[in-house]
Amino acid sequence: MREIMESVLTNRAALAAEVNKVAEVAGYLWQKGWAERNGGNITINITEHIDDEMRSLPAISEAKPIGIILPHLKGTYFYCKGTNKRMRDLARDPMRNGSIIRILDDCASYVIIADEPVMPTSELPAHLSVHNWFIETGKPYKASVHTHPIELVAMTHCKEFLKKDVLTNLLWSMIPETKAFCPRGLGIIPYKLPGSNALADATISELSDYDVVMWEKHGVFAVDTDVMAAFDQIDVLNKSALIYIAAKSMGFSPDGMSQEQMREMSVAFHLPK
Ligand code: 13P
Ligand code: ZN
Repeated sequence: MREIMESVLTNRAALAAEVNKVAEVAGYLWQKGWAERNGGNITINITEHIDDEMRSLPAISEAKPIGIILPHLKGTYFYCKGTNKRMRDLARDPMRNGSIIRILDDCASYVIIADEPVMPTSELPAHLSVHNWFIETGKPYKASVHTHPIELVAMTHCKEFLKKDVLTNLLWSMIPETKAFCPRGLGIIPYKLPGSNALADATISELSDYDVVMWEKHGVFAVDTDVMAAFDQIDVLNKSALIYIAAKSMGFSPDGMSQEQMREMSVAFHLPK
């Protein structure tokens, strides 16, 4: 049996609730088959839950470069999945499969402060660039989720589906809820090296128009006010992908909802597009 470890989450109910939501979502990602091995990563901005005692906690790692300068992140705090850590392990034990980092005053490096020196995800440049952009643009978003949803990724192996908004319109038309609950659609980012600054930059520019973007032949990156809401957006999109594939495997191309039915949805649900 594992000994009970000291954790910064002890007696910090609001912070613990946010981290436990990450663990809950990590469990869903594993159950769905979207998180093979260490696949996928999650970060959340937890700065609002950091008290004076946590602010004065010493670093438990040396300062590590982020690789980019992110001026709006000075003094902010994030919970990050650890690199090479498994979602299925994070679901059971978030503080041993992820860690809390503080962004230093140079806005270009960070230190780990709790609970253990678990190195953050290799996709940190993309995650932190996105959080920097949320603050810069005054968005209330706090969570970013990257995962490998099987059917959505499979669809990116077809050139036609990589054209702007082809997948958005197809997926929206499979079931009314998809447009209602992923109202900005699915942006497409042509293949780029995982963990690269080029992928981070492309992600930022596509997020001006979408809350969920597809990294071609790799996975999706979704943002929202909290981790559960970001997960829900991916889940409704992948549900539509499954309906499309189910129809195709029954031997026909699905009709999809008509443009008129989609317009009616947009009016009824006050949707932006
Ligand atoms: P990490 O284990 O570094 O988070 O990487 C997983 C992944 O999906 C990279 O794109
Ligand atoms: Zn990935």
